[in-house]
Amino acid sequence: MNIAVIPGDGIGTEVTAEAVKVLRAVEARFGKPIAIETLPWSADYFLQTGVTIPPNGYDLLRSFDAVLVGALGDPRVPDNRHARDILLGTRFELDLYVNYRPVRLLDERLCPLKRRGPSDVNFVVFRENTEGLYVGVGGRFKAGTEDEIAIQEELNTYKGVHRIIRHAFEFARARGLTRVCMADKSNAMTDGHALWQRVFKEVAPAYPEIQPTHYYIDALAMYMVLDPGQFQVIVTNNLFGDIITDLGASFQGGLGMAASGNIHPGRTSLFEPVHGSAPKFAGKNIANPIGAIASAALMLETLGWTAEAQAIDEAILRAVQEGEVTQDIGGALGTRQAGDAIGQRLS
Ligand code: NAD
Ligand code: IPM
Ligand code: MN
Repeated sequence: MNIAVIPGDGIGTEVTAEAVKVLRAVEARFGKPIAIETLPWSADYFLQTGVTIPPNGYDLLRSFDAVLVGALGDPRVPDNRHARDILLGTRFELDLYVNYRPVRLLDERLCPLKRRGPSDVNFVVFRENTEGLYVGVGGRFKAGTEDEIAIQEELNTYKGVHRIIRHAFEFARARGLTRVCMADKSNAMTDGHALWQRVFKEVAPAYPEIQPTHYYIDALAMYMVLDPGQFQVIVTNNLFGDIITDLGASFQGGLGMAASGNIHPGRTSLFEPVHGSAPKFAGKNIANPIGAIASAALMLETLGWTAEAQAIDEAILRAVQEGEVTQDIGGALGTRQAGDAIGQRLS
């Protein structure tokens, strides 16, 4: 297996170091080699070289089996240009249309919702990942004046909406799940989200064993808090998916816990924690590495290394249950020590 690692910025470099440590423990335990190449693309690299991603960058990424990213974002690059090219650019160029974000609570103690445990918080969000408000169509006119006009268009295509909704139903079917909930804002966005309504109604009948449900995104956010147990699979657009998965992360114990995959089934895909570079935590050995380590497990699972992925998930669960974790989830360990605790449970 050939993996590219892009540590990126801030705590991204610290948490990916722990994910790599755990991949090395997997390699040792299962005796299967994992080749890892580290790519330096980051805010530092951009500020030193003027290059966000080199001209052959996306092709280079395609030559790996998968890519593991830490986080991108740095106050010294206020327009976030490098993150746009490295992270959003890869999502678009490699056509990683499935943003797979499981929301799974490992231990009741970590959940901020009253009387909710692991059986209440166990669903997945499929976020459309290649269009919506993220396409960068628009512009500013008379910028910086009192006459400024700012336009940023939301793009919804039949192909794009269809493939993510289909993916959500296929996932539910493969896992024996019985409900798929689509969330949009079709009461206000009566053109763009009418397409989501149309496609959802068109696709659902092909899955008679699955109950299709729908909420407007504002109500969905409320029901996630009040009754998360009703959800198995949620499918939504790019921006709404971004927002509700930070909310979902809070149910899991915080942003440090949440993992994600940016996937084009069958092609090189990119895995990363849901959190960002958390500049105020950077370099202090306090960031929780679990989101990054669980993202590495998602990567292995997606590449068919099921037993290896399961071993990582079990090691994470044991470390959490035994309190060998960072401060954000009630432990006393630093980032490196929390990574060691998981690595040790693998060997
Ligand atoms: P953030 O996710 O970096 O951090 C928000 C807060 O969540 C932190 O202050 C911290 O309290 C907590 N947190 C996040 N990760 C944690 C971890 N591993 N362990 C413990 N606590 C953790 O979000 P932000 O502050 O809004 O953004 C900071 C920068 O990161 C920005 O430049 C933003 O654009 C970027 N960003 C990048 C990604 C990505 O690369 N995928 C995702 C989100 C934000
Ligand atoms: C995420 C992040 C990114 C997004 C940012 C960094 C552009 O918040 O992966 O959740 O909005 O997709
Ligand atoms: Mn986000």
